[in-house]
Formats: sequence, C-alpha cells, structure tokens
Amino acid sequence: MQSGEAAQLAPGGRLRHLITLSGLPPPLLRALFADADRWAGDGGRPLAGRLFVNIFFESSTRTRAAFEAAAKQLGADVVNLDQMTMAGETKRESLEDTVRTVAAMGASGIGLRHSESGAAVRAARAADESGVAVVNGGTGCESHPTQGLTDAYTLREIFGEDFSGLKAAIVGDVLHSRVARSDAQILRAMGAADIRLVGPPDLCPPSLREEFGAPVFADMDEGLCGVNVAILLRVQRERLQNGFCGSPAEYFSAYGMTAARLSCLDSEAVIMHPGPINRGMEIADEVADGAQSRILRQVKNGMAIRKAVLARLCAGQ
Ligand code: CP
Repeated sequence: MQSGEAAQLAPGGRLRHLITLSGLPPPLLRALFADADRWAGDGGRPLAGRLFVNIFFESSTRTRAAFEAAAKQLGADVVNLDQMTMAGETKRESLEDTVRTVAAMGASGIGLRHSESGAAVRAARAADESGVAVVNGGTGCESHPTQGLTDAYTLREIFGEDFSGLKAAIVGDVLHSRVARSDAQILRAMGAADIRLVGPPDLCPPSLREEFGAPVFADMDEGLCGVNVAILLRVQRERLQNGFCGSPAEYFSAYGMTAARLSCLDSEAVIMHPGPINRGMEIADEVADGAQSRILRQVKNGMAIRKAVLARLCAGQ
C-alpha cells in the first residue's frame, strides 16, 4: 500500500490529492495559508462548471458543510452521498468502485470521510485512473488534514507567522483523534517546538510520546502550565472499544476546561476545539462561550481553508 505522503504528491511535488499533512513541505503549507487569505474574501469562481462530490461514510456537520459551501462559492455543482444513500453501504460496492463511479460522472473532486485509516489512500489510488482529486475529510484515527490546516491558520492569525514560540497543549482523547495527529504534524512543520499531550492514561497513554515526539501529562494543571493554546479534543465515545474510562462528570472534574483552569495557561492564551464539543465534559459553557475561545473562529477559518484546498486541487491546474 502506497503511503498517504507518496499518494498525494505528483511528480515535481504538485499536490494531487490532500490525504495527510505528514510530509507536506512548509512552503506549500504557507502557500495554502496565503491562498486562504485571498479566499476569505470573494475570490471568483474557478470551479464553475465542475462537479464536487462529498462521500461521507461517517456523520459530519462542519467538514461536510464547509466542503459543500466552499465548492459552491467557488462555482462548482455539489452532490452529497452519505451512508444512507450509498450503494457501498447497502449493496456492498467497494470504496474504489464508488470513487470510479463518481469519477465517470465527471467529478473534479471528492471529499471523503471514512472510519478506516488508509481509506483516503485507497480512494486516491482509484481516483488516479481518472484524474479526480481526493480531499480527506477525516479518516480513522490517522488524519484530518483540512482541520489541521484550519487550526494552524487560526493560530497564525492570532500569533503571527512565526510558530517557534508557540506552546501548545493537545488535550483529551489523543489516542483516537485524527485531529490531534494532523494538528501535531502541521504545528511541528511550522516550527512549534513545545507541543504537549494531556489526558487520562487510557485516552492519552505514555506510549504516545514516541508517536508524537511530545511529552505526555496525566495531570491537567501541570500539562497546561504556561501554554499559549489548549486544543481540546472531543472524547470519542463511539470509538472506544472497551467502554469509557469514567463518567462524563469524572472526566470533567479531571480534564474539563473550566474558568478556574484558565489561570494555569498564559494570560493571552486561547482555547480551541475542532467540534463537536461536549459541553460539561471537555469544556465548561463559560469557557466555550468566553473571550478566550476561538472555536467559532476555527469554523469560520475552515471555510477559507477549504476554498484554498479545493481551488488548488479541483481547478485542473
Ligand atoms: N471538526 C470536525 O471534523 O467536525 P465534523 O465532524 O462536524 O465534521
């Protein structure tokens, strides 16, 4: 199986698909941010006459809606396939054949969400027979590249282009989180040196230190000490194999972001969360809706990033 890194770059380094942030060169990341700056305003309709198809095997609010709205604002027609309507779910059509079918309809781009790590690479290999571009909208526990781009773009907006002084804590269910992996990959690529993982040992085990190259803290207050940003993660109860390791109230008591806990962070620190948020579990209402929250700014910035990605991948450049 080709790796995501290998599958997404055409000869010469052009981005052919977006599967993972791992291995993407910083100049390309900065170019996508510059594109997003332009697309945050009205930047034209480079996808006029083109077709974008969302193939979502898992539920989504933000990503699917942002892909659809971004594609439409760029001028494309959009079709949404989901687990209720796809033959793949009910008639055992393979992912590859679904991709080939959509490509044969003339699609220029596919947004894919799937529960399996590796699904975006499989889709990209099938898509390479036709020229349609695959944009990973979240696969398994491995990768959510447009969310990672969105989060780094939001931090660039707040703290500037130089990420070297950033102190970032990624908090919660790191083990099952594709967002954690994509965020850590892009923050490292942009130069952030101080990235910490914080969470209960069964959702943020010490073994993650090796995978992420980052220290792991089981104590919330210790892990948050002095950080500029806390990126909170949703506890993915649907992915937990052996039952949740405690009640929501117990989790909130030990790892919930409360107003009292904000005092551990740098005074200028911001709180981020990719959503959907579990209020009263990962985050208190007063923090989610408070002055230091950038949660809705992430959603807004996610539109500009998706437009930047789709314009680059689906306009036939
Ligand atoms: N952040 C994110 O992936 O949210 P959705 O599941 O709503 O797309």
